[in-house]
Amino acid sequence: MKRMNKGIFITGTDTGVGKTFVAAGLIKAIRKKGINVCPMKPVETGCKIKNGRLAPADAVKLLKASGIDESLDAVNPYRFRQPLAPAVAAENEGVVIKKGKIISAYNHLAKSYDFIVIEGAGGIMTPVYKEYLCLDMIKDIGLSLIIVSRPGLGTINHTLLTIEAAKNRGINVYGVIVNHTGSAVKDLSEESNPEIIKRIGKVKVMEIIPYFKNPVLLSFQSVFRRIAGKIIRT
Ligand SMILES: Nc1ncnc2c1ncn2[C@@H]1O[C@H](COP(=O)(O)OP(=O)(O)O)[C@@H](O)[C@H]1O
Ligand SMILES: [Mg+2]
Repeated sequence: MKRMNKGIFITGTDTGVGKTFVAAGLIKAIRKKGINVCPMKPVETGCKIKNGRLAPADAVKLLKASGIDESLDAVNPYRFRQPLAPAVAAENEGVVIKKGKIISAYNHLAKSYDFIVIEGAGGIMTPVYKEYLCLDMIKDIGLSLIIVSRPGLGTINHTLLTIEAAKNRGINVYGVIVNHTGSAVKDLSEESNPEIIKRIGKVKVMEIIPYFKNPVLLSFQSVFRRIAGKIIRT
């Protein structure tokens, strides 16, 4: 089996753009191809307490999508209660985030599985610890980047900033996925935004994902099958 990458890193132009939604859909589609796929959410903040323990909702969702029997700690080495950037939550909670722990957690998973789908925290300039940014972590892990973007007005700026910052650090931008997180009325810019991002950012706009009221529909599956087919060529 020939494969393009060992995994992919999913970031967004912001928080709440659909990183987890896209990562989960992609994981399910990759799994359907018979590939042993493992998720990773290196740092998760804003975790609720369940049964006396911090519950990282994104990591749990991604692990469920993968169907694998892997420990939550292996997939999500750091989690925090406060809904803040990881660096701030860690500092407030008196925890030292070690990049070595994140990288070795990734290396361990990469050895055990065929493909890893990693979801970042926030956007790429989000501080993971002190001045170590999500960007630095992506560079250290060494995977290509998918940027999940909003469809409407403002997204050209946010997406091009993300592309520019990634390219400046020598990160390979695999492509942009435009995602509709709501059923709001279309704004005029939605038609032209993908083309502008593609032309100025010199990237592929891989897919425009509609808002799915019911994310188990066949159309949902075919969108992610298409994305998976682009990332993994068997
Ligand atoms: N295409 C979509 N269709 C329906 N709901 C979506 C879609 N994309 C995202 N959502 C929902 O929007 C919310 C924010 O998405 P999420 O993936 O959690 O964002 P992020 O991980 O970037 O913070 C979630 O409730 C998610 O289920
Ligand atoms: Mg998320």
